[in-house]
Amino acid sequence: MLRILVLHGPNLNLLGTREQSIYGSQSLDSIDSAVIKLAQDLAVEVDIRQSNSEGELVNWIQASGTGYQGIIINPAAYTHTSIAIRDAIAAVGLPTVEVHLSNIHQREPFRHHSHVAGVALGQISGLGPAGYLLALRGLHDHLSAQRKLKKPSPGSRRQKSASR
Ligand code: DQA
Repeated sequence: MLRILVLHGPNLNLLGTREQSIYGSQSLDSIDSAVIKLAQDLAVEVDIRQSNSEGELVNWIQASGTGYQGIIINPAAYTHTSIAIRDAIAAVGLPTVEVHLSNIHQREPFRHHSHVAGVALGQISGLGPAGYLLALRGLHDHLSAQRKLKKPSPGSRRQKSASR
């Protein structure tokens, strides 16, 4: 079974009460419940964690190299500041989807740059909580396609040699 690590960065624990005009009224718990439900439908295992600490996020990313096949991360403010999180993602080399609830490209200039985007499989920004669900579907499809590529179908070798 595919295992995906879902990481929420700083201040996302305050969702539901924090700047509702930007981030909406949904709590982190309710976002996580929707992620868990979709994961069950897709037969994927998700491990969901939140931290306000950059070092803790880096440690979790480093450790994900064993046991996980992909990462979904909303690095929150660390998106714009953390080379350490970018380097950790690059080091483990797992396909990673970056999620933002708000459209960071429409907001203050200091939010336009993401250190993570350059090492991410993709970025979803501005679609609210649905972004996490789209990330999970996208990562699931990506990993499933990768698995199929790695496992040649039983007849493929024979077909190849027969055509020589
Ligand atoms: C955020 C966008 C960041 O700029 C901000 O610092 C956050 C949340 C988002 O989900 O829209 O904390 O990552």
